[in-house]
Amino acid sequence: MKTLLTSTTNTLNMKSIPKSKPPLFLFFLILHLFLLPTSSSTTNNASNSNSNTTSSSTTHSFKEAPKFYNSPKCSTITIDTDNNNNNNKYICSEETIHVAMTLDTTYIRGSMAAVLSVLQHSSCPENIFFHFIYSSNNTLLHTTISKSFPYLKFQLYNFDNSIVSGLISTSIRSALDCPLNYARSYLANLIPLCVKRVVYLDSDLILVDDIAKLAATELSQNENTVLAAPQYCNANFTSYFTPTFWSNPSLSLTFSNRKACYFNTGVMVIDLLRWRAGDYTTKIEEWMELQKRMRIYELGSLPPFLLVFAGNIVSVDHRWNQHGLGGDNFRGLCRDLHPGPVSLLHWSGKGKPWVRLDANRPCPLDALWAPYDLLQTPFSFDS
Ligand SMILES: *[C@@H]1O[C@H](CO)[C@@H](O)[C@H](O)[C@H]1NC(C)=O
Ligand SMILES: *[C@@H]1O[C@H](CO)[C@@H](O)[C@H](O)[C@H]1NC(C)=O
Ligand SMILES: *[C@@H]1O[C@H](CO)[C@@H](O)[C@H](O)[C@H]1NC(C)=O
Ligand SMILES: *[C@@H]1O[C@H](CO)[C@@H](O)[C@H](O)[C@H]1NC(C)=O
Repeated sequence: MKTLLTSTTNTLNMKSIPKSKPPLFLFFLILHLFLLPTSSSTTNNASNSNSNTTSSSTTHSFKEAPKFYNSPKCSTITIDTDNNNNNNKYICSEETIHVAMTLDTTYIRGSMAAVLSVLQHSSCPENIFFHFIYSSNNTLLHTTISKSFPYLKFQLYNFDNSIVSGLISTSIRSALDCPLNYARSYLANLIPLCVKRVVYLDSDLILVDDIAKLAATELSQNENTVLAAPQYCNANFTSYFTPTFWSNPSLSLTFSNRKACYFNTGVMVIDLLRWRAGDYTTKIEEWMELQKRMRIYELGSLPPFLLVFAGNIVSVDHRWNQHGLGGDNFRGLCRDLHPGPVSLLHWSGKGKPWVRLDANRPCPLDALWAPYDLLQTPFSFDS
């Protein structure tokens, strides 16, 4: 399984079960090399079907990921062996690391890669619980996840699109207008009350480090602190809001008593207890209501988060969100990594690595995503 060998950090405690044998894999490589040039004339037309991700992704099938085991130093979550309600035990255990992601048919390939990367680099993968928020066809999503990750601890939550559909105003990129994109504002309502903290992750990223380190971010300094995320104080904060916003004193005053910096909402550690106590969902919705009446920003779900939280969050090391790898929101040009270490790579922006890889036009860094791709290719011998 070449796809599982490129981890860059400690995976000593990970015992993967290799499924394909080396000679078979070599054969595959050779076959692939010979077939590629001749098949390119037919794959040219594949770009037609690839452009319609909605219909093509629903027919995708995915490989099974290996089982990942806890290292000996991990605490064990005790469960009742004769009880099929163990999900609740995991969910409410203090030892569990909670990860929340959205799941839809368009981005499922990205989500699968993200889940695999989280497990592969975790020292206690059996203690991770995934909370997946979906808005359509849970049967298909449930089947897809449980076939590829038979050992995964997860729960699916239905997100009612109608909650936000009346609040969404069109942004500069149509993909940002998808209701599920706003589900991150509703995690505190969806996830069970016993869960105190969750790491929210976008679907277009991979981790190359232990998520436990991110999840352990210290949030307690100030009781009003609800979130932690990498902050970018050199980014031009002004540009995230319209002149209408800045020229209206009653609006722009919202930032007057805080040193507001940009942060990306694709990777956040959220204190759900404080979120619920402060009813931050309503605060976000209030800004969205205003946006419906007067255009105060151009992007989708990000600006309301900045309005409510910027300047009041705990800074996380930049290594935990090397964002922008998808390029800008218009052309999706290739981007390079920011200086410094890397624990998480994030293809935010227009270009997605799986789309560029399929089109045979990958950016150099897309090669780092490819090893986590679980898509079953026609050349694969896995099934
Ligand atoms: C490729 O796509 C073009 C335009 O969509 C179509 O006219 C042509 O017949 C297709 N070729 C094949 C081999 O499917
Ligand atoms: C993609 O396919 C879906 C379902 O078949 C269809 O509703 C949609 O219009 C198509 N989109 C494009 C851009 O072709
Ligand atoms: C949902 O997915 C299942 C399994 O693939 C399929 O049988 C069903 O028709 C789908 N339902 C809808 C509403 O698309
Ligand atoms: C920041 O962005 C605003 C609005 O887009 C622009 O007017 C301003 O010149 C920018 N400032 C800097 C320092 O680039």
